[in-house]
This record gives sequence, C-alpha cells and structure tokens, in this order.
Amino acid sequence: MRLAKDRADADYIFEAGSLEETEMLAAYLARRSKAGTVIALDGDLGAGKTAFSQLFAKHLQVRDTVNSPTFTLIKEYEGRLKLYHMDVYRLSLEEADELGLDEYFYGEGVSLVEWASIIEEILPPELLEIYIETESAATRKFYLIGHGQPYEAWVHSLRENGVMLHE
Ligand SMILES: Nc1ncnc2c1ncn2[C@@H]1O[C@H](COP(=O)(O)OP(=O)(O)OP(=O)(O)O)[C@@H](O)[C@H]1O
Ligand SMILES: [Mg+2]
Repeated sequence: MRLAKDRADADYIFEAGSLEETEMLAAYLARRSKAGTVIALDGDLGAGKTAFSQLFAKHLQVRDTVNSPTFTLIKEYEGRLKLYHMDVYRLSLEEADELGLDEYFYGEGVSLVEWASIIEEILPPELLEIYIETESAATRKFYLIGHGQPYEAWVHSLRENGVMLHE
C-alpha cells in the first residue's frame, strides 16, 4: 500500500499537550481495535511512537512492560487481544518481506508498526496511518489518515466528536 505521508492530507489532527492527552488518543484507538487492526506509526526519532504504543498497550489491557522493539524487531504481548509491536527501523524492505509479516497483520491480534513507511510496499491496504510531529518538549501533533474501513469511520468520528473519554 501507499501511505499518504503528506501531513496536509491528514483526515484529523490530534494535538496532545501532554503525555496524558496522548493517552486519551491511545485509549480511544485501543478501545476500537479488534483482531487484524493495523496502525502504521511514523515520525522522527523521539517523536513518541514507542510512548504511544506503551499507552495503547495499557488500554489493550497488556500487563507486561512494553519496551522499544528497535532491537527485537517484533514483540508479542497478551492483552484483551494479542499485541504485535514492531519496529522496522533497522530492516530493509527485503528483510522485512522475508519475515512474513502478513501472519501478524492478518492474525488474531493488533499490529503497531514503528517506522512503517520503510515497509509501506508490504503493509496491508487497510490501516490507520499516524504521523507524529514534535511541537515542544511535551506537545505532539498526531496526523491521522484512515485507509479503508473501519479506520475511515474512526477518523470521521474523531473529527465529529473528538476523543471522548466516556461513551
Ligand atoms: N505528548 C507526548 N506524547 C508522546 N510522548 C511524549 C509526549 N510528551 C513527551 N513525550 C516523551 O517523548 C519521548 C518519546 O520517545 P519515544 O521513544 O516514544 O519516541 P519514538 O518515536 O519511539 O523514537 P524512536 O524513533 O527512537 O523509536 C518519551 O520520552 C515521551 O515520554
Ligand atoms: Mg520507538
């Protein structure tokens, strides 16, 4: 698939003024996730891809500590659903292709992919694309683009209602 990458194409921009506000977005998305959900994360070093993943994992009821998978490439966790946390920063497209990631993308869990643009050719066609931009020490902008359903509906709902804490 082709990620949009251009932030001007974002369907929804979430501005987090703190880690707690990032947690609100992570909780919102974790609540909607189901088997086969794929979230592609991009953004510079230190933007918050791992921080977002840790908060997402918390709201997927993962009890284990979620570490950066930069060196492990893929880590699997048990929560309400399985969580496949990947970091493909050190991989070439060819190496990633050999890992057979479709097993995860179409598996029984949720896939979070840090540095997803590196492997965009082998990502599934339907996913939520998130680009994280650092604004200042504690503030981040999350640019969301929904590719296919249900992601387009998630983003539409976010645009209409924002991140609702109590539903
Ligand atoms: N609003 C915020 N949202 C997310 N992270 C934040 C926020 N404010 C501060 N941070 C901090 O920014 C840092 C983000 O680092 P993190 O390791 O998550 O980045 P990364 O994008 O995964 O980097 P890498 O490319 O090295 O994997 C963390 O220390 C986190 O606590
Ligand atoms: Mg990281």
